[in-house]
Amino acid sequence: MNPMLTIAVRAAREAGRVLTRSYNRLDTLTIMEKGRNEFVSEVDRNAEAAIIEVLREKYPSHAILAEESGSHQGNDYQWIIDPLDGTTNYLHGFPQFAISIGLKVKNRLELGVVYDPIKEEMFTASRGEGALLNDRKLRVSNRRGLDGALLGTGIPYRDFRFSENYMGMLNDLIKDTAGIRRPGSAALDFAYVAAGRLDGFWELGLAQWDFAAGALLVREAGGIVTDIAGGENFLETGNVIAGGLKVHNAILRRIKPHLDDKLTA
Ligand code: IPD
Ligand code: CA
Ligand code: CA
Repeated sequence: MNPMLTIAVRAAREAGRVLTRSYNRLDTLTIMEKGRNEFVSEVDRNAEAAIIEVLREKYPSHAILAEESGSHQGNDYQWIIDPLDGTTNYLHGFPQFAISIGLKVKNRLELGVVYDPIKEEMFTASRGEGALLNDRKLRVSNRRGLDGALLGTGIPYRDFRFSENYMGMLNDLIKDTAGIRRPGSAALDFAYVAAGRLDGFWELGLAQWDFAAGALLVREAGGIVTDIAGGENFLETGNVIAGGLKVHNAILRRIKPHLDDKLTA
């Protein structure tokens, strides 16, 4: 295994211990609302600190972009960290959340780790070397279109600027697929696309740390990740489609009528 991936996995396991330790005593947590419907607790911060400690010890000159502590300057290597993706689920005791750690080198995604500490599922990817779930190689589904497809998505709950566009997309896609799921952790949604558990996924308004690692997982499992116009700007815009080739293209076609200048700007 790539030595930097080994370290990222170690960091994810450390954070996993922080998350599982508090999961049985959620009522004792101090929860703050950063913005409407945007919660944070000491668990997010402690998990992030644990990750940064592991990475910093080995790679003191690397840059870091982490959800809770922001941007830490460094060289061309940048770790992108979400210490708890699926905070709302976590705080409700709904067992679908993960740690996400990605690495960009000169702005290109190189490594990705998404770890579900409840199911003990460690998803890893390294550019050019494929994606794994624990020790098993991952491959996206080869479904030929939307018929029979199970899609994942994120329904707006905090930022409603594009909710009309989004509801139009959802309204079209529910009619053409086997069903839509809103599990509540974008990092795991991408990991599930990589594993072929979901045939495709789309969401508007994600942050880099939600899916930098997940996007590499999907690509390394043979899938396609683009922004909602079919371009490469998914990390910048946070508006993203992922899936096997045919399902990805079918989602892209279905959502096109619901795009406007505001959304693609
Ligand atoms: C959220 C989750 C969710 C997605 C939101 C994200 P958080 O991350 O990934 O699935 O719909 O847009 O903000 O806040 O739980 O780390
Ligand atoms: Ca997140
Ligand atoms: Ca988070």
